[in-house]
Amino acid sequence: MGKFGWFARKHFPMLASNAYLKLQFTTRSKSQKAYCDYFLNAKEVPMPNVVNIETINRCNSTCAFCTANVHAERRPLRKIDDDLYRSIIDQLADWGYKGHLTLYGNNEPLLDTEIVERHKYAREKLPDSFIFMSTNGLILTIDKLKEVAPYINQLIINNYSMEMKLHDNIKEIYDYVKAHPQEFKDLDIQIQMRYLQEVLTNRAGSAPNKKATEKVVKETCLLPFTDMWIMPNGKMGLCCCDNFETTDFGDLTKVSLKEAWGSEQFQQVRRKIAEGRQNYPFCKHCDFIDAGFRMQLVNAILSGDQEAANKLGGHERMKIGKKNNEDDNIK
Ligand SMILES: C[S@@+](CC[C@H](N)C(=O)[O-])C[C@H]1O[C@@H](n2cnc3c(N)ncnc32)[C@H](O)[C@@H]1O
Ligand code: SF4
Ligand code: SF4
Repeated sequence: MGKFGWFARKHFPMLASNAYLKLQFTTRSKSQKAYCDYFLNAKEVPMPNVVNIETINRCNSTCAFCTANVHAERRPLRKIDDDLYRSIIDQLADWGYKGHLTLYGNNEPLLDTEIVERHKYAREKLPDSFIFMSTNGLILTIDKLKEVAPYINQLIINNYSMEMKLHDNIKEIYDYVKAHPQEFKDLDIQIQMRYLQEVLTNRAGSAPNKKATEKVVKETCLLPFTDMWIMPNGKMGLCCCDNFETTDFGDLTKVSLKEAWGSEQFQQVRRKIAEGRQNYPFCKHCDFIDAGFRMQLVNAILSGDQEAANKLGGHERMKIGKKNNEDDNIK
């Protein structure tokens, strides 16, 4: 993050958050609507573009904006059932899925002791998928990085802190990667400086430091159209803002992925959200907007270039007032 972005987030957190959201909603609304229409009018329900599988619902950080932080957590501890995990990946493979895959949600993926094995399985079954991981890096080591590197396309290390300073272990990783470019030539590694107490979105009322106010948000939302959200309890949820695991679009131990994703129940909800999120109670006050890459992704699909869409990087980061990410990332 550049000094300006850091300063704005630290000293004018609400202003920075709201200015960003206003800009994004204004500039994206037309393409978002076009994608919703394309999706709802397709002969067959289109595949998701990003499949998110949260394998364990815990984190070890204290980010003020996130419900998964250790102070705000209230979900009963769950880890995904191994057979169910493999079945989900197998179903994606049978479906011919080549889109994005993440094995994290509202959690810290490295807390799952089987996370490397799971990525290995996914890589073998879904060789053409763009697999990306986002981590707070708190327990990341050079050895762990080496273990997971062969199975992922992109690694985002979010260095959450109060000062613009890398944690010691992340600095070590940064130096190691810089010194061994050949070893990681096939992996896009990005380290992002993140302010631990910034304000982001209200996430449908679940963010600890931003209330979902009485304000009704009359914008559509891409997430139910682009993202498949799978929780460790084996349910398909609405989206990443369901931090408390309350939505239910199918128990994947009982119905197939395809059935849950294309169900009439889900389609009905999508029709409402397409006309404005205020039409669906869960979304009425939610000011979440997806990270920018989904916009590029749906634009690529609308222009007929599915292959280009599949290859786009999966940034999970909102940027304030910048078109590119030059000074947000240390590459
Ligand atoms: C929930 S974290 C999970 C992965 C990992 N723990 C990490 O932080 O990189 C994934 C992303 O969600 C974002 N996030 C968390 N709370 C948010 C909020 N209230 N609004 C928008 N994005 C949020 C974080 O900024 C992070 O980039
Ligand atoms: S943003 Fe990531 S690291 Fe921070 S509390 Fe949430 S899940 Fe944990
Ligand atoms: S409006 Fe918010 S809660 Fe509703 S689908 Fe979009 S991101 Fe999820």
